[in-house]
Amino acid sequence: MDSVELQGEQFRLVVSSISAETDDIVAIDLVDPAGDALPQRAAGAHIEIHLPGNLVRQYSLCNSPFESDRYKIAVLREANGRGGSLALHGLTEGETVVVSGPKNNFRLAGTEAVHHLLIAGGIGVTPLLSMVDELEARSAPFHLHFCAKDEGRAPFLNRIRALAERGVATIHFDGGEIGRGLDLAKLLEEPVPAQHVYVCGPPGMMDSARNLVGAWAPHTVHFERFAGGPIAMEEDEWEAVPFEIVAKKSGLVIPVPAHCSIVKALGDAGIEIPVSCEAGFCGACLTRYVDGNPVHRDTVLSGLERKTHALVCRARSRSPILVLDL
Ligand code: FES
Repeated sequence: MDSVELQGEQFRLVVSSISAETDDIVAIDLVDPAGDALPQRAAGAHIEIHLPGNLVRQYSLCNSPFESDRYKIAVLREANGRGGSLALHGLTEGETVVVSGPKNNFRLAGTEAVHHLLIAGGIGVTPLLSMVDELEARSAPFHLHFCAKDEGRAPFLNRIRALAERGVATIHFDGGEIGRGLDLAKLLEEPVPAQHVYVCGPPGMMDSARNLVGAWAPHTVHFERFAGGPIAMEEDEWEAVPFEIVAKKSGLVIPVPAHCSIVKALGDAGIEIPVSCEAGFCGACLTRYVDGNPVHRDTVLSGLERKTHALVCRARSRSPILVLDL
């Protein structure tokens, strides 16, 4: 991955060890090439790995936030993905990768939380393991519910089993039948005063949990997303409406045909925008616009942010022309 040129706040890390967690999940340790301490982070943080072809992928850090000599990530091989996971599964020890971050959208609450309920599905356990380290250091009460189909799909199982033996974790293997797994409804239907909930897992688990926490105070529920949300039907119809982009700095006028993303149209015109999720939830393609009326279709920008910026992997335009600050 030496072919990726450094930009902005990016830096290089060396792969110091790779180990198989399951048949399709590897854990990768990354260290500073000179052995220096890595930037500090709190539990729940992730880094971005920049791959050839302007691909950016986000990975939660799953080792203790108090370890400054390495970042540990886990990567699930996605045969039908867009190439990021396969590239990382092809790494060998001693290779370098280009990294930015760490960033954190999934922080633990402070002392206002009297109990922390951690709910993980499969590889979604990664940020929660670093939370366990931080909560143990704080002597804060917590319980981890870990869900997987079976042992073969369960990363970091020795660590989670050790937590279960101490009574601070419960392992749920459902054998592929949702009804045999964790009863999320029972766990979440009633808000527990001063309890905070953290959920990271596959889209189905995240959507179920989100549907169940309606009665909880919003600041007590925390979700780490690694997949995009559905697009509302009204917003979906804009997919078929072509429009034009004006790139303000270069003056280029770029047609965006129906069913073609702004990112793709810009790329075809020679303007590369970094992307990661390509589904409107990671923020990698955030772009300022200066005129026009975007249809946002993302799941992360606030109302205020939408007044000036758009996530152009998923946004469309209501106005015939959308002027981007590019
Ligand atoms: S690439 Fe993730 S929001 Fe656009």
